[in-house]
Amino acid sequence: MDYKQHITIVEDWPKEGIKFKDITTLMDNGPAFKSAIDDIVEYAKQQNVDVIVGPEARGFIVGCPVAYALEVGFAPVRKEGKLPRDTIKVEYGLEYGTDALTIHKDAIKPGQRVLFTDDLLATGGTVEATIDLVEQLGGEVVGCAFLIELSYLNGREKLKDYDILTLMEY
Ligand code: PRP
Repeated sequence: MDYKQHITIVEDWPKEGIKFKDITTLMDNGPAFKSAIDDIVEYAKQQNVDVIVGPEARGFIVGCPVAYALEVGFAPVRKEGKLPRDTIKVEYGLEYGTDALTIHKDAIKPGQRVLFTDDLLATGGTVEATIDLVEQLGGEVVGCAFLIELSYLNGREKLKDYDILTLMEY
């Protein structure tokens, strides 16, 4: 399916000069959203995944329906201070300063085959930090699935050792 027809480009949002790729108009279209999720489900089956991991907030939107379809678990990765039990944390660089992502220590069991899901691969900082968390817990990242890749930001460079699925490229 040509998913790009369902993405809305919002000029100058959240800042001047940014052409924001809004996925809500894809989510809004039942058959298109289902088809996109089904594509990722097929990929997840090929990669024989045990658990899905996704970062807030839009990684949940993509990852949870995939987990549901496969009857596997979903492990949320959240900004610091949001998860209630024992967590591990990784700090990662932003344009200015750093941010931190956390995961529950028991969310991934050693040896589990993990699929990373998110809406967007931009610089790759979020996926790289999440992979770090998964690997600290002994998980094996067997795939990374995104709706959209902004290839001009070269996020793929950070994922040389990993398998990637993207449904749209800009
Ligand atoms: C966006 C997007 C990805 C990430 C991609 O999330 O949903 O998670 O940025 O960028 P990167 O490849 O450069 O790391 P954002 O940080 O805006 O968080 P949100 O979904 O909670 O708004």
